Amino acid sequence: MQAKIKELKTLFESHLQKAKTLAEVENLRVEFIGKKGHVTSLLGELRLVANEQKREMGKKINELKQFVEDALFVQKQFLEQETIVKVISSAKKIDITMPTGQVFGSIHAVTSVAKEVEDVFVSIGFIVEDGPEVVTEYENFEAVNVPKDHPARDMQDTFWLENGQVLKTHTSASQNRILKKYADNLAKGEDIRVIFPGRCFRNENVDASHENTFFQLEGMMVGKDISVANLIYFMKGMLEGVFKKDINVRLRPGFFPFVEPGFELDASCPFCEGKGCSVCKHSGWIELCPCGMIHPEVLKMGGIDTNNYRGFAFGLGLTRLVMLKYGLKEIRILNSGNLKFLKQTGTK
Ligand code: DAH
Repeated sequence: MQAKIKELKTLFESHLQKAKTLAEVENLRVEFIGKKGHVTSLLGELRLVANEQKREMGKKINELKQFVEDALFVQKQFLEQETIVKVISSAKKIDITMPTGQVFGSIHAVTSVAKEVEDVFVSIGFIVEDGPEVVTEYENFEAVNVPKDHPARDMQDTFWLENGQVLKTHTSASQNRILKKYADNLAKGEDIRVIFPGRCFRNENVDASHENTFFQLEGMMVGKDISVANLIYFMKGMLEGVFKKDINVRLRPGFFPFVEPGFELDASCPFCEGKGCSVCKHSGWIELCPCGMIHPEVLKMGGIDTNNYRGFAFGLGLTRLVMLKYGLKEIRILNSGNLKFLKQTGTK
């Protein structure tokens, strides 16, 4: 029996050396310590051994079994490791310094002009706010002093949603929420300076100069002694910041229910410096930005004490400003996703 045990061990060792795959290792396991394996049947032969040797032989066979198990385990681990190394080293190598040929997008003209305007306002202490595109009827109309049946509702063709909300027809729809949010500033002796760019929607017939989806950039300043003089000062500063040259502004009367008095603000044409060109239709002026002193009703609905505070608001036509800046004759190009246009006007 002892000789057999030795023999089996030697046999196993020589087989193990030749086992170069996981499948071969598994075959070896079955062959030696499987149910009908050599070592297992040796255990069966124990009953033929003389009684006084049984214990020792049993121990030896079990030692052999353990030895086989351990050796197989080690060999299996070795082969698995080897496979991983092989896969990794045969994998296609990536040269991370190679040019990718990948095409990068660019910042849309509307976004980059909005950023320019925002930067100017931020530099003079304004906060940039965001607002939802779906708003309540109250926010879009009532809160900016456009009650039901008011003729001003006809000025804007509204997209109504089934739940009674609307796609905001103007950024003014955010005025109420923003006034409420910052009303506490005033008690602390600070003023309210906020701008809020946004996408607006109107149910319009689309042509070269009308879009159903366009951008505005609205602003409000509310404080103790705010007057039309502040309005003119800030608008002039903003336009000079965007066009990077001296700009004159002038106000003409204009009607909007949420401002009193309301104005149309014209800027001296930045392209011909007021001499007259095709952009300004040879008038030297371009109509750029409706604005005015915020109507007391609007302030009240925003939680502002109208005995002590006043404010101005403006609604810059951001899309129009972009068209002016890039000399675009066709508004629809802005939302078209036209790659040639995006490449020409986009910034990195
Ligand atoms: N909400 C107006 C519109 O879309 C634009 C506007 C006019 C905004 C005057 C203002 C303002 O803040 O003071 O037609």
